[in-house]
Amino acid sequence: MKPRSWAEVKDRGRDRALVAVHADELSLALSVAALMVDEGRRAVDVRGRFSVVLTGGSTPVPVYRFLAASPLRELMPWARTEVFWTDERCVGPDDPRSNERMVRETLLDHVPVRAENVHPIRCGSRVNSEAGKEKRSGAIAAATVAEAGADRYDALLTSLFAAGDGSGAIPSPGRGGTEERTLDLVLLGLGKDGHTASLFPGTSALQEERAAAAVFVGAVANAGTTAGEEDLWRVTITPALINRAATVVFLASGSTKASIVRDTLQGSYDPARLPAQSVDPAGVARWQLDEEAAGLLDATVRRS
Ligand code: 6PG
Repeated sequence: MKPRSWAEVKDRGRDRALVAVHADELSLALSVAALMVDEGRRAVDVRGRFSVVLTGGSTPVPVYRFLAASPLRELMPWARTEVFWTDERCVGPDDPRSNERMVRETLLDHVPVRAENVHPIRCGSRVNSEAGKEKRSGAIAAATVAEAGADRYDALLTSLFAAGDGSGAIPSPGRGGTEERTLDLVLLGLGKDGHTASLFPGTSALQEERAAAAVFVGAVANAGTTAGEEDLWRVTITPALINRAATVVFLASGSTKASIVRDTLQGSYDPARLPAQSVDPAGVARWQLDEEAAGLLDATVRRS
C-alpha cells in the first residue's frame, strides 16, 4: 500500500522522524547549534573525526553565529571537524550569493577549523555571467563548467566516504571499523516549494546516483526561494549522499514555512513534487522548527 505521508514512511522505518519545536527563531538556532556540538563531540569520541555538511540560506545564519561564539566555539572539536556544503551557486567564492562565502563569514573565519578540512563546492565563477548569453545561443559551455564542478565534488565525496570494499558506494553509518569515514551530520534548509539543498521540484538530480549534480535553477524554481533569485547554475549534493548520513537536521523557521513544513511531513508522499521528502537517511532525520514554522502541524506529529 502506498504510504500516505512522509511521516508515515518514517514511522515504518528503523528510525522515526523526530520533530522538535522551539519557542522562537533564536532558541531554535541555539538548540541546533548545541545539537551540532553534541553530534560533533560524539563522532570524535567514537571515530576520531566529525564530518558535517552545511547548508546555505538565511535560516542557518544565527546557528552559525552561535557556533562561532563562546561557549560553543570552544566546545566543538574544530581540529577534527571536516566541513562540506550542501549546494552552491556557480558564482565564485567572493560573490555575495555564495554559500561558501556566507559560511566562512558567519562561522569558519572565527573558529580553529583546519584549512585542509574545509571542502567548498567550486563550480566556476564565470559560469553564470555567461549563462544567459549561452542559453540564448544554444551553447552548452556553462552547463559543461557546472557539470565539471559537480564531477569534482562527487569525486571528492566518493573518495572520502566510499566503502573500503571497492564498490565505490558510500557506506551507511555503523558499518566497518574506525578507519571508515562516516558522514555524520547534514544540515538542510527547506524552501517554501519543498526544495532542499538545490534539489528543486521535478529536478533529475533527485534520481542521480552520484553524490553531487549540476542543476540549472530557472525562474519557476526561483519562485520557491526565500530571496527570489535570478537564473543560476548550481551544484547540489543528492539524496544518494544525504541518505547515507548518520543524522540529517532540517531547519525551518517563520510562518512562511508553516504550510510547506505541514505538506512535507503530513502531505501525500510525492518526493518529485516535494524534494525534501526524498530525504530518508540511513540514520535519523531531526526536524528542528520554531513555533511559527510548526504552526500547521498536527499535535501527533509535533509530539514525535
Ligand atoms: C540555498 C540553500 C537552500 C535553502 C532554502 C531555504 O543555498 O539557498 O541551500 O536549499 O536552504 O532555500 O532558504 P532560507 O533559509 O533562506 O529560507
